[in-house]
Amino acid sequence: MSITLSQKDIQNKINFYGDSAKVDELLQTVSMVAPTDLSVLINGESGTGKEVIAMGIHQLSPRAKKPIISVNCGAIPEGILESELFGHEKGSFTGAIDQKKGYFEAANSGTIFLDEIGEMPLNTQVKLLRVLESSEFMRVGGTVTHKVDVRVIAASNKNLEQAVANNEFRRDLYYRLKAIQIKIPALREREEDIPQLVEIFARNYIEKNNIRFKGFAPEAIILMKEYNWPGNVRELRNFIETAIILNRGEIVHSAYVRSSLNLYPAQRSSELLPIPLNKTPEQAERELIYRTLITLKLDIDEIKESLIQLMHRSNGEFGSLLSESQSAATSGEVKPQSLNAMERNMIKETLSRFDGNRRKTARALQISERTLYRKIKEFGL
Ligand SMILES: Nc1ncnc2c1ncn2[C@@H]1O[C@H](COP(=O)(O)OP(=O)(O)O)[C@@H](O)[C@H]1O
Ligand SMILES: [Mg+2]
Repeated sequence: MSITLSQKDIQNKINFYGDSAKVDELLQTVSMVAPTDLSVLINGESGTGKEVIAMGIHQLSPRAKKPIISVNCGAIPEGILESELFGHEKGSFTGAIDQKKGYFEAANSGTIFLDEIGEMPLNTQVKLLRVLESSEFMRVGGTVTHKVDVRVIAASNKNLEQAVANNEFRRDLYYRLKAIQIKIPALREREEDIPQLVEIFARNYIEKNNIRFKGFAPEAIILMKEYNWPGNVRELRNFIETAIILNRGEIVHSAYVRSSLNLYPAQRSSELLPIPLNKTPEQAERELIYRTLITLKLDIDEIKESLIQLMHRSNGEFGSLLSESQSAATSGEVKPQSLNAMERNMIKETLSRFDGNRRKTARALQISERTLYRKIKEFGL
């Protein structure tokens, strides 16, 4: 009844690229589940493309013309997530001055994307299970049952099975969601995708910014395959865009890749990762976060340094492209950053590292969520 799309058509339609067998298989699953109303659970490390796949499933579904509402369960404070999702009645809690519709009602006849579902509080999980089973829910403080027709797509970067074992995630909800599970492998497990992704990211970037770029040396691409990419495709994309700017549109050689990814022969990327001997996954993860943060900080310093040099040398050809970074870089050069600015940057970087997830950000920075909220306000983040 419908025209079958080729793998290429699907990729162009949903902007998820890569030509490894793993991506092929993943896209086949996507094209099979997209036309149905089944709920889907997407699993993968941060930066692997979970959101791209969720949006893609919606776009390839009969609901494509209806809204898709994206909710990051980890970024909304626990106390208000339930009323955000299901709405509330007037006076149901302090501050509920009016009746309010929730995201489920807003997404009616469309799709809801519940990102970081592993962060959802247990009592909200009960309500979610009810919607999944019977399409029914009640607003917070309400007594009337409402019906909705919403397709649910959920994503998580944590091992939900483990969360179930730790009593942090409801077993019944997990079994309900995992019926259709899409696992997106980490980029380091499908390095064959790197050349195509590099080409796409470079092309998009130069077209969007209207700049000329001579390309990557073949050895540079080979080296990129050796790196571990802890930030996955998101990190690769940032790397490509930065490489184009810092090399001023000239050919990007392997020497640049080697030094900016710290790929020195004696210190291959695998050795940079924590070796999780006798470590709990949490300890290993925390260590990885610290290392990543430190590397990120060093990278930024290095980029600033290069930008400053570039500014001095530049005869203005990259002027418009770099104007924003320029002021930041030069002001960084004139006076050292204040402690406040460093704190603000650290919080900002960590927030973006965790896709705005405040709970994880607070944990990684070893401050309380309350303090984090205060800082976010104070720094206007
Ligand atoms: N296969 C892919 N093809 C093209 N772009 C991708 C792919 N996977 C991820 N991206 C890009 O990488 C970034 C992170 O993707 P996102 O879906 O937000 O990851 P996640 O939700 O898993 O953290 C986005 O800029 C996205 O467009
Ligand atoms: Mg995401």
